[in-house]
Amino acid sequence: MHCVSWLLLWTCLLMLGIIVRGAPAQCPSECHCHGDLQHVICDNVGLKKIPQVSEATRLLNLQRNNLGSIPTGAFSESKGLISLHMQHCHLREIGSQAFKGLNKLVYLYLSNNDISTIKPSAFEDLTELTYLHLDGNQISNLPKGIFSPMINLFVLQLSDNKLRELRQGTFSGAKDLRWLHISNNELTTLHPSSLDDVENLAILHLDGNKMSTYPSVAMSKLRVVEELTLGKNPMKTIPDNAFQSFGRYMEKLHLDNMGLEKLSDGAFTGVTAVKVLHLENNRLKSIPKSLQFNTITNLTLFNNPWNCSCQIAPLRKWMDSIPIPNRPDALCASPNQHKGKQVRDITGFKRCRPKTARTKKGMRQ
Ligand SMILES: *[C@@H]1O[C@H](CO)[C@@H](O)[C@H](O)[C@H]1NC(C)=O
Ligand SMILES: *[C@@H]1O[C@H](CO)[C@@H](O)[C@H](O)[C@H]1NC(C)=O
Repeated sequence: MHCVSWLLLWTCLLMLGIIVRGAPAQCPSECHCHGDLQHVICDNVGLKKIPQVSEATRLLNLQRNNLGSIPTGAFSESKGLISLHMQHCHLREIGSQAFKGLNKLVYLYLSNNDISTIKPSAFEDLTELTYLHLDGNQISNLPKGIFSPMINLFVLQLSDNKLRELRQGTFSGAKDLRWLHISNNELTTLHPSSLDDVENLAILHLDGNKMSTYPSVAMSKLRVVEELTLGKNPMKTIPDNAFQSFGRYMEKLHLDNMGLEKLSDGAFTGVTAVKVLHLENNRLKSIPKSLQFNTITNLTLFNNPWNCSCQIAPLRKWMDSIPIPNRPDALCASPNQHKGKQVRDITGFKRCRPKTARTKKGMRQ
């Protein structure tokens, strides 16, 4: 008799303790937990709302549940979170202060939802956030300063959304941003000051947008871009000095599938380190003199109407300097005697004299 009532009392006290402390130090019933609740995994378990997990939890995986929205304070008991996974959760909106209290969060994955609305101050408190993945959503507009709490943001993934423009102040505060991915959106223009706050970008992906002119002014604020992709934008020309402000750093440049007709004579001014250059599927006839070939290891040129007159001689010379199997495809469309031939197979460029030769008197013997 005594034993049973003592047991009941203990059970009551335990439950009372749990209620008073508010946060059940228990694994949510649908989820798996590891390492003393440090990892809580609720991947595709039919959750309809966000479970409360304790401050002990570092990683919360809620992928593939039908969650709809993130209400204010949804994570108020989960202040220890470092990594939060909410891909494929049918999220439509991120409310203001949705992540309130998560000031230790480093990784936030919101890819592949239906997010169209991000309320101002949605990301308040995310001062440690370093990786933010918002790709594969319906975002057409970003409130000014939306990323400003994220003074440590390093990677921002916004590809496969519906962004139409980047305005001044979009990235204010995110001054450590290094990787910015905005491929496959509907950008027609970058406001001249839109990149002022992120001058340390190293990787910028803008391919698959609708820009018909190169955004020279916005780009000129960047200092250290190593990789730039602009493919699949309907640009006809690349202007002089397009890459000058970061040309010493740029190693990879993608200008493929654009319908490009001309690279201006000074398009590559200041570009001194490029290793990988993609120019395929355009309407280019010539390569400007400002392109230095000496650092290039990978070059793609196919499906352009190359004009194989003397101006192509530096390209031909570079092809001679690399192993035969690596010499890229490039068919000549003109002049008539070379039409249909590969640049690498053409001979006779020895007769093309560099323009400077004339000024160096006495060089010829
Ligand atoms: C460069 O080309 C080689 C073969 O030609 C390929 O194996 C390599 O992956 C390419 N590198 C890059 C960065 O595209
Ligand atoms: C090819 O280049 C040469 C030399 O610059 C020029 O005279 C000729 O008109 C060009 N041909 C085409 C089809 O653009």
